[in-house]
Amino acid sequence: MKYLIANWKMNLNTAEARELAAALRRAPHAGVQVIVAPPFTSLEAVSGTLAGEIGLAAQNIYPAESGAYTGEIGAAQLEEFDVRWVILGHSERRALLGETDAFIRRKLEFTMSKGLTPILCVGETQEERAAGRANAVVGSQLRASLEGLEMAGESRLLIAYEPVWAIGTGQVATPELAAAMHRFIRETASQMQINVSVLYGGSVTPANIGELLAGAECDGFLVGGASLSADQFLQLAAKCAGAEVI
Ligand code: PGA
Repeated sequence: MKYLIANWKMNLNTAEARELAAALRRAPHAGVQVIVAPPFTSLEAVSGTLAGEIGLAAQNIYPAESGAYTGEIGAAQLEEFDVRWVILGHSERRALLGETDAFIRRKLEFTMSKGLTPILCVGETQEERAAGRANAVVGSQLRASLEGLEMAGESRLLIAYEPVWAIGTGQVATPELAAAMHRFIRETASQMQINVSVLYGGSVTPANIGELLAGAECDGFLVGGASLSADQFLQLAAKCAGAEVI
């Protein structure tokens, strides 16, 4: 089974989100878990439009029950719309909003305590890769989030390897590069006795998903740009559904 996650980021108004969600109801369900992460303002419209097999994710969560956290969103608000996954540690939030590993760790523990599944994003910048530090950076992001984490029986974790240089640039990672990092992520997590599903994200399109599926040893994809087109996203879903089960 593959995961295919649409990260709509800060795009689409409510009517546009409803229209795109309606088109995605044609996505295949066998062999692929499709998940949509709309802007918060569209959660109600999208949850009312999606067929049951398509899941809903939040793009963020604040690690507190409720209270004076202006501009933030809590688990209680997300549960109203049957949100079951939460994207955490996206490089845009790390870079633009100053989210630290320590804060992401708090969000991760909170998310799991609410029975929601984190989609934890990790990845290195171009400079870090050029300096030969890609594994060191991703390893330290993983350890900061996972070391000593209590995993309840049912809980699972999705890790999205998203090289920062591949996000929104059209510069997709080669299947070999993605596969090497995916192996490193699995090894690092298993050293901490944590089972993870590993996804790839960064300029995934219908043109390149085939070779990533064939070579990248990944459990699915986190998709930004191509998830805003029903046509492209449905093509991605079809390719994931046809992929061999791992
Ligand atoms: P992209 O974004 O597919 O537009 O590169 C991926 C992401 O940021 O999750």
